[in-house]
Amino acid sequence: MAATSSRVRINPSILTADFANLEHELGRIATADLVHVDVMDNHFVPNLTFGPRMVESLQRVSTIPLDIHLMIDDPDHWAPGYAEAGAYSVTFHAEAVKDAVALARRLRDIGARAGIAVKPQTPIEPYLELLPDFDQVLVMTVEPGFGGQSFMEETMPKLAVLADAVAKSGLDIWLQVDGGINEHTIVTAAEAGANTFVAGSSVFNAGDPAAQIATLRAAAEAHAH
Ligand code: DX5
Ligand code: ZN
Repeated sequence: MAATSSRVRINPSILTADFANLEHELGRIATADLVHVDVMDNHFVPNLTFGPRMVESLQRVSTIPLDIHLMIDDPDHWAPGYAEAGAYSVTFHAEAVKDAVALARRLRDIGARAGIAVKPQTPIEPYLELLPDFDQVLVMTVEPGFGGQSFMEETMPKLAVLADAVAKSGLDIWLQVDGGINEHTIVTAAEAGANTFVAGSSVFNAGDPAAQIATLRAAAEAHAH
């Protein structure tokens, strides 16, 4: 599967895609590793996007695995449904979850990779002891809610902490960044320790999304640890 064949992963976010033509938009990013799907509930973040039925439909037509980013309240209740819909990866927010470990174990039991996300102001240290129950950690590099914002370089120390903890643990945990990733900021994030990169506007606003994916991949591979 594409998701596991590369040292780095490039996951375009369909938040900036044409929502009326999503199957066509998926075709434009067929060389990506996973497709990043931003689920927003207008409570955890001030924006509203997709729910489980949309994810089921995307799952049916996508040739690449789905990387679900839940920006919702009460993920303890809602997240398993996305794993049951066939998502390859389901990431929920540390700020929203009640029992992170129980939910991660439930997601893994269903067959998905389990991810935990932190907003820019949320410290990572309290979550390091939970790493064995996770397959991915998402460090938000913008405030969640909207595409097209500027990369926040001040979040990079969290990646260094995570990269060190993951290396010491020997676990296979993907370190994901999301927000403001382009051919310049991806270098900063890769050098800081990220290996999984979400890019929305820089891919979907490019004239040739496949060429932009290749550019991002080359930049990340040249600078990843
Ligand atoms: C923001 C979303 C991101 C968004 C990134 O809350 O989680 O996935 O699509 O968009 P860009 O790459 O444009 O910052
Ligand atoms: Zn996202």
